Amino acid sequence: MAEIVGGVGTSHVPSIGAALDNGKIDEPPWRGIFSGYEPARSWIADKSPDIAIVIYNDHGSAFSLDMLPTFAVGAAPRYESADEGYGPRRIPEIVGDPDLSWHLIERLVADDFDPAICQRLPLDHGATVPLSILWGGPSEWPVQVVPIAVNVIQYPLPTAQRCLEFGRSIARAVADLERPSRVVVIGTGGMSHQLQGERAGHINREFDQRFLDDISPHPERLAAMSTVDYIRQAGSEGAELIMWLVMRGALGDEVKEMYRDYHVPASNTAAGIIVLEPAA
Ligand code: DHB
Ligand code: FE
Repeated sequence: MAEIVGGVGTSHVPSIGAALDNGKIDEPPWRGIFSGYEPARSWIADKSPDIAIVIYNDHGSAFSLDMLPTFAVGAAPRYESADEGYGPRRIPEIVGDPDLSWHLIERLVADDFDPAICQRLPLDHGATVPLSILWGGPSEWPVQVVPIAVNVIQYPLPTAQRCLEFGRSIARAVADLERPSRVVVIGTGGMSHQLQGERAGHINREFDQRFLDDISPHPERLAAMSTVDYIRQAGSEGAELIMWLVMRGALGDEVKEMYRDYHVPASNTAAGIIVLEPAA
């Protein structure tokens, strides 16, 4: 009965959240970036999902190199905004959906995925900035959120293929949820960027365009790429794009692309957004 009404892949650049929080979205350079988000915001307002499954990565806020799960599912009734060094973002409380979380965890485990289970999970920009991109600065979020964290920080990362399959498992679980929920799946991170080392500042427009072109009709091409392929082409942090493949896997075999936008740079990153709907 529950239904996945659409999917969004989007960058999660922290300064996009800061621009919104500090009322700077009508000033350059932010104006161009935020005007590119408007069609996605109209689309989601129109679709009016009541649940968002947010596939994101934690950047050392909830986890650290001491303990870092490959996949982790939030199962909390609410999630705080993480303090990333300048105080938590002042955003509305993020309300969870423990029933859906536990249903997903049961089904993922039955499907041979073994995620960590988090009954407390402070959410950093990886999860909160996409909410702001899609819903702006509301007095409360119009969705309950189930956050799912993917390790893209400590090698070895899960493979792109595993991420696509993980998304397919989410789709099966949602299809079996006996509740009339309207679910949007949001995959965050990317597009090409590298924040560290000799190649800091690396951006690869050709790769990003190919990724946007392939994700709807040919996700298996993107799933066949190795972690090293992602890092070489998209940069060490560009490998965050594997989280878009979780979203893509959750949307089913055939999808319609509803919208895309691409903006270089946003901070150090090639910022992209894509909006998909299941075709069937
Ligand atoms: C930036 C991008 C990210 O994905 C991130 O996690 C942190 C910073 C940036 O471009 O500044
Ligand atoms: Fe990131």
